Amino acid sequence: MPKPSISSPAKRAADLREQLNHHSYRYNVLDDPTISDAEYDALMNALREIETAHPELVTLDSPTQRVGGAVAEGFAKVRHPQPILSLSNAFDGAGVRAWRERVSKYAQANLTDVDLSRLDDFVVEPKIDGLTVVLTYENGMFTQGATRGDGVVGEDITANLRTVRGVPLMLQSKEARGQGDKVKRKKTGASSPHLPISSSLHLSVRGEAYMTLAEFKRMNDELQAKGEKTYANPRNFAAGSLRQLDSRTTASRPLNVYCYAIIPPPSPPGEGADDSVIGGVRATQWDTLQYLKQLGFPVSDISKRFATIEEAIAYCEEYASKRDELPFEIDGMVVKLNDLALANALGFVGKDPRGAVAFKFPARETTTLLREVKVNIGRTGNLVPSAVLEPVPLGGITISNATLHNYDDIARKDIRLGDRVLIKRAGDVIPYVAGPVVSARTGAEQVIAPPTHCPFCGTPVEKHEGEVALSCPNDECPGKVDRAIEHYVGRGAMDIEGLGTKIVMQLLDAELIEDVADLYALKKEDLLQLDKFAEKKAQNLLDSIEASKKQSLERIIVGLGIRHIGEVAARALANYYGSLDAVLNATPEELQQIDGVGPIIAESVADWVKRDNTRDLVQRLQHAGVNPVQEVRRSEGLKVGPFAGKTFVITGALSEERDAVAAWIEDLGGKVTDSVSKKTSYVVVGEAPGASKITKATTLNVPMIGEAELRRLVIRD
Ligand code: IVH
Repeated sequence: MPKPSISSPAKRAADLREQLNHHSYRYNVLDDPTISDAEYDALMNALREIETAHPELVTLDSPTQRVGGAVAEGFAKVRHPQPILSLSNAFDGAGVRAWRERVSKYAQANLTDVDLSRLDDFVVEPKIDGLTVVLTYENGMFTQGATRGDGVVGEDITANLRTVRGVPLMLQSKEARGQGDKVKRKKTGASSPHLPISSSLHLSVRGEAYMTLAEFKRMNDELQAKGEKTYANPRNFAAGSLRQLDSRTTASRPLNVYCYAIIPPPSPPGEGADDSVIGGVRATQWDTLQYLKQLGFPVSDISKRFATIEEAIAYCEEYASKRDELPFEIDGMVVKLNDLALANALGFVGKDPRGAVAFKFPARETTTLLREVKVNIGRTGNLVPSAVLEPVPLGGITISNATLHNYDDIARKDIRLGDRVLIKRAGDVIPYVAGPVVSARTGAEQVIAPPTHCPFCGTPVEKHEGEVALSCPNDECPGKVDRAIEHYVGRGAMDIEGLGTKIVMQLLDAELIEDVADLYALKKEDLLQLDKFAEKKAQNLLDSIEASKKQSLERIIVGLGIRHIGEVAARALANYYGSLDAVLNATPEELQQIDGVGPIIAESVADWVKRDNTRDLVQRLQHAGVNPVQEVRRSEGLKVGPFAGKTFVITGALSEERDAVAAWIEDLGGKVTDSVSKKTSYVVVGEAPGASKITKATTLNVPMIGEAELRRLVIRD
């Protein structure tokens, strides 16, 4: 806290700056703040007051200058002290192993006196998917920040970089770090040499500026609400923010930076660059990272040192599957020789240094042509548009189909037939069409009209209140019935062995069945007429159908395919009612009271019970012998499932309609509510989320998760 002081304004300003720099370092670099945000703001305000009263005291490195200043005319060009190199890529462990072999061969052939054991010492770092920046310090003060540009000449974005939180405006000296705040050093086995720490330091540092995924979503939403242009991904957002001519705009965008290299000063003609000597001391890549951290630069704590290439590869692979858990995007890992002197001696091929390689993760987005929109139907009648694409590789597989969430979404994003479209795929989530590449339009693209009639039965489509999906209301719609039968016999429901989608289709085509009750009337001679059916196969199928009569009430309820009812809700219903007859007599009031049955599910069951053909179908099943009765267990706490006791709020568009996701959550024992409160366990953030929900969640500290993470919660619990 600012202490009342009788010292001069200059002294007090300097004192406040030192405190602010110290706390900003604790917050941004050590991730271990010792004061609250409010206290930090109070210090900042105190400094601002002094600077307002005494403008002559404002210094370029003052933390108050992070707010951004005047509008630039354009960016001046900056020559980098050394060319900013790139990296060669490997796409898997084999690629990294091959790199290690190449390096070894090259060293043996070209370098004399090389101790090859020095090769087996690696630093693995995350490859942040951001924007390369070069930060230059003179006398310990941040004097220039530049983009990579063409690698030789970049753009001067000093004013903008000054607003980036992690960029130290003044390098930390030992004194400024204070006695009690020693940098936590990881034990590396070898001790780092004592590298110079001095306020007279001149140096340039390379880093990657980025925006977290959460901030990206929040900021994009804000832009959209204001009707401004949004960005396709966090990298574009970071780049766009750093190239703003008005640094106040950059200041309003929460960017950060990770640093990983020291760029040596321009070398005398004829000599190569040498970053292996820092202030006259020989240093390794690992030392460099520790040193950067000591100086106050944010350094990723994912970076790690390994003594064998196999361990380094295993670490890369570990992060290939963990990338979705990080708060920012990484597009790979970088494997570097720790011995920088050796790395320098190895030189480079074109722009790629031999001493490092990028382990690139599979891409998650690409563009391709939207050839056709097909309509699929679900067992409950929802008509779901699906994109037929020009096949394109993405994330290690070839994609030729992708989800188009619903027709409202198609219209909102203005996706047209013949468009070049952006396809995204995160983790295991099904690829989806994120939007059109408007700049690639030729004028021949066609607007996609939603169907007015069900393509499977010709019935006019309907739209349920509060839902986005179009749906076919005809209970006898062949498309719907097909899906319903596939669902009934499926593994999650009646689990009738030997009855897959293909055979269901055969039975339907031969008109042997029209609905699930007909399965129980099948005779051997019926089956023997079918292609590829002999005595044994027919008998086996009849036996499995017979066996399904013994399935539990819970599984039959699942099999009936009531909208939104999955395993957990079915168990709750089975325990509460004990028989199909009792379920048929369920009232909406009663359903609401059942533990484990949320409002969406209750409404869905009530609606199903009322339907004309429900009673008929259930009675035919009962007649055929599918009529399990079980003990009623109403007193038992039925709050089961991985989401039991958790409350969710959904905002923005997810890969399925919101009600379906809500029902899925309820089905797993969770609750879904409309407004964010202290009791909310998670806010699930989809595309184009509501600004007020995000703000509320941020203020109340409610964790915000994406859909992929939501799906993963089930696995984790
Ligand atoms: S090393 C000679 N390390 O990835 C050093 N690059 O082509 C070459 N990047 O845009 C770069 N994180 O800015 C290195 N830990 C890291 C990195 C990293 C991100 C970027 C780099 C460049 C691209 C490599």
